[in-house]
Amino acid sequence: MSINKKNILLGVTGGIAAYKAPDLVRKLVALGANVRVVLTKSALEFVSPLALQAVSGHPVSDDLLDKDAEAAMGHIELAKWADILLIAPATANFLAKLTHGLADDLLSTLCLATASPIVVAPAMNQQMWHALATQHNLAVLQQRNIRFLGPAAGEQACGDVGLGRMLEPQDIANSLDEVMPQQVLQGKKVLITAGPTQEAIDPVRYISNHSSGKMGYALAKAAKAMGAEVILVSGPTNLKPPANVTTLPVTSAAQMHQQVMAQVSTCDIFIACAAVADYRPAQITQQKIKKNDQELTLTFVKNPDILSDVAHLQHPPFTLGFAAETQNIREYALSKMTRKKLNMIAANDVSDSRIGFNSEQNALTVFWPEGEVNLAIADKQQLSMQLLQLVSEQLKP
Ligand code: PMT
Repeated sequence: MSINKKNILLGVTGGIAAYKAPDLVRKLVALGANVRVVLTKSALEFVSPLALQAVSGHPVSDDLLDKDAEAAMGHIELAKWADILLIAPATANFLAKLTHGLADDLLSTLCLATASPIVVAPAMNQQMWHALATQHNLAVLQQRNIRFLGPAAGEQACGDVGLGRMLEPQDIANSLDEVMPQQVLQGKKVLITAGPTQEAIDPVRYISNHSSGKMGYALAKAAKAMGAEVILVSGPTNLKPPANVTTLPVTSAAQMHQQVMAQVSTCDIFIACAAVADYRPAQITQQKIKKNDQELTLTFVKNPDILSDVAHLQHPPFTLGFAAETQNIREYALSKMTRKKLNMIAANDVSDSRIGFNSEQNALTVFWPEGEVNLAIADKQQLSMQLLQLVSEQLKP
């Protein structure tokens, strides 16, 4: 996968290496990338926005509160536009801001607003690079899957010699290819369920759960980025359907079951990420239930198990289930994998409020018959990439 035709958002921060930014833009454009540039206020002291506009062919942004920019491409659109957010050079100060999630200027805000990979090419004095604070920030950012290109060692602008030089523009441009999602699902058709289901009680009430759909939608986007054709069967969510993904909205478990069964025969991979209601009211009353009695008893009947039905087909696709558990995670996940005849299961500890239902991040323990791996806490988009990479490794040739 190359950066040809990809959208690279280049953030330039205020260090002496910023003078190399126009050359970096030229190198990226030469590899076929579309490049837009954002400068921090201090970068303006080192490099001319006009030069960057000339080489990128687009206006350069430097202000979060820019009325003209918001009317054209505001910060959220810019964050969504980017396939990669590259920060080069990245100063020690900017790394510290990134570590703490500050959003006090356009570039730091974009870092929070993007779901795309963030890549940084640090540049600073060697002593600043080795400072405990910077090394701590480096470790935190790497844990969040932020990729570091460099720094290189050598003579520095201040006369010191050591680690801290920004990598050469050509090396940065070449390295970006590795960061782009690999097309490991090229030619595969992936069916994904996402979100909650709603089980009607009467015309105005239903039972449901806290699934937001974020994990399933992130998987759909990741599968698309990795080359697959994607069908997303989604329960009710507030999310925008992912671009270039066929999204089929459903409400109840019965509808989700019907839609999955109608689609699955042509699919290579089935991922059951939806939080499907295990039970539904035995009857949906025609009129709104009145509060005449002190107690109300509802009878529930079991819903079809979509994942199990798919895995028990005569010619099933590769099946990846999720297991949302609050205790005995390993034991319950493994027994679900065996009972439902799955190829793989991703266990979610939903007792941890930082992850799982309706959070931006997740962490998973993934099991398959011959192995297991822990995927550390990360943005759901990045985690989806890692999970689908594991799936692709398990697919039969
Ligand atoms: O949507 P988010 O807010 O981003 O939250 C993500 C998530 C926590 C919902 C997701 O990561 C997750 O764990 N999804 C599975 C939730 C679940 O219902 O788990 P379960 O252990 O009850 O079900 C096991 C598996 O069987 C799941 O793959 C489920 O989709 C599937 N299932 C369950 C019941 C049913 N009737 N049909 C099914 O297909």
